[in-house]
Amino acid sequence: MIRAKEAGVLAGGLRIISPMSSPDQPNSHPTPSCGALHQPLASPMLDDPRPFYSRAREEEPIFWSDALAMWVVTRYDDVQAVARDAARFSSVNSISPVSVVPPQPLLEVLMQGFPLLPSLVDSDPPIHTRSRALVTKALSLRRIAAFEPILRELAERLIDRFVDKGQVEFVGAFAIPLPGNFIVDLLGLPRAHLEQVDAWISHSAAIFAGHGTLEELVEHARHFVTFQHYLADAVRERQANPRDDALSDIVTGAAALESPLGMAELINILLQALFAGYETTAGMISAAAVELARDPELFAALRDDPSRCPAVIEEALRTASPIHAMYRTAKEDVEIGGVTIRAGERLQLAFISANHDEACFEAPERFDPERKTPHLAFGQGPHFCIGAPLARLEGRIALEVITRRLPGLRLPEQRLAYFPSATARRLAAVELAWDPPAAS
Ligand code: HEM
Repeated sequence: MIRAKEAGVLAGGLRIISPMSSPDQPNSHPTPSCGALHQPLASPMLDDPRPFYSRAREEEPIFWSDALAMWVVTRYDDVQAVARDAARFSSVNSISPVSVVPPQPLLEVLMQGFPLLPSLVDSDPPIHTRSRALVTKALSLRRIAAFEPILRELAERLIDRFVDKGQVEFVGAFAIPLPGNFIVDLLGLPRAHLEQVDAWISHSAAIFAGHGTLEELVEHARHFVTFQHYLADAVRERQANPRDDALSDIVTGAAALESPLGMAELINILLQALFAGYETTAGMISAAAVELARDPELFAALRDDPSRCPAVIEEALRTASPIHAMYRTAKEDVEIGGVTIRAGERLQLAFISANHDEACFEAPERFDPERKTPHLAFGQGPHFCIGAPLARLEGRIALEVITRRLPGLRLPEQRLAYFPSATARRLAAVELAWDPPAAS
């Protein structure tokens, strides 16, 4: 059980922390032009941030954002340098631009669960070092490779559900359930709980994104707390009877540490492992599918030669940048790109901008799977995505199955809208159409 002062939740796309632990907010800064225009969660930037960032990279590559009250780093080299420099840039609160106190009714519900503690992507050494080692072992290449047939079967089953219709809202029908269901299998949670866990993940995502009225958020929070307790039961069960699954690896690894992790720490690590690959992988898969639906030649090339799928996935990762940004705090005064960042000031690493930097990617708006420069969609340095091999496998299998099962894939006329989030960038929904199999 948590106490109010310890409570921490993600909401409104923000990390909500107690005022006592509130990070520094700088007092005054010049208000440059890019900073005044920077509105990442509203149209037109939400729909397409590329023109804005292109201008920023040219005119003011590191600017102070009025909306976020922090520096925004836009060029590839600078984003890479900050992401690699964990000695001078802290990842605590890396998921959230600002800190607010949760409203009382929400706090009361959340206090019935476990506190959200810095545990992995939002932590520094030594917490980060030990959590990362645990999750890296649990998501080993050996384990992921062994799961390929299960993943393929899952993708086929999802497509079976709608292939006859000839059209579907693809994000909800495929791009979200594929990673959502798969992570449940991979962790070792029972398949019989799949629908329930999926619903809990959706409620939790709504809490993290802060979507809805206070009443709705409180309802989401109730489910989130139930989910935490469900995970705690699963942890206890693995503590008593470890098996060959990712959850057991995390639980037994945590118990073997010099100072073993408590339940709250374990729940936080599990939640991050569950969430980190959910919206993100859905964003990657839907972006790649949209490219195929727009480009019949590319579709045919992949169908005829599936070995080209990984390159298309890499380019979808670059162009879509499913984590459009993460956040850091300067631990000391640092000069970067000619700008002095003071100790305690916050920075946004705009991965989506770095991935469109003309200095590294010629004609960055063009979808070109032949590119050689590595993108930064999985980050860089000590927080580089642990799930990258898993995401790449999911993307490859998704494209192999889509190109075989959905011939004539096309994009019906529609307005593509993005889900507003401080970190994740994915299509809210997309209708895709294809030639359904002839009725026998
Ligand atoms: C397309 C899919 C994905 C994208 C674009 C993505 C992107 C990222 C990025 C940019 C970071 C670095 C954050 C930072 O530097 O602050 C990260 C970290 C992380 N990702 Fe992913 N990710 C994806 C899929 C996954 C999957 C499938 C998993 C696991 C199930 C996962 C687990 C993690 C974890 C645990 C971290 C934290 C690593 C650390 O802090 O040491 N990700 N991811």
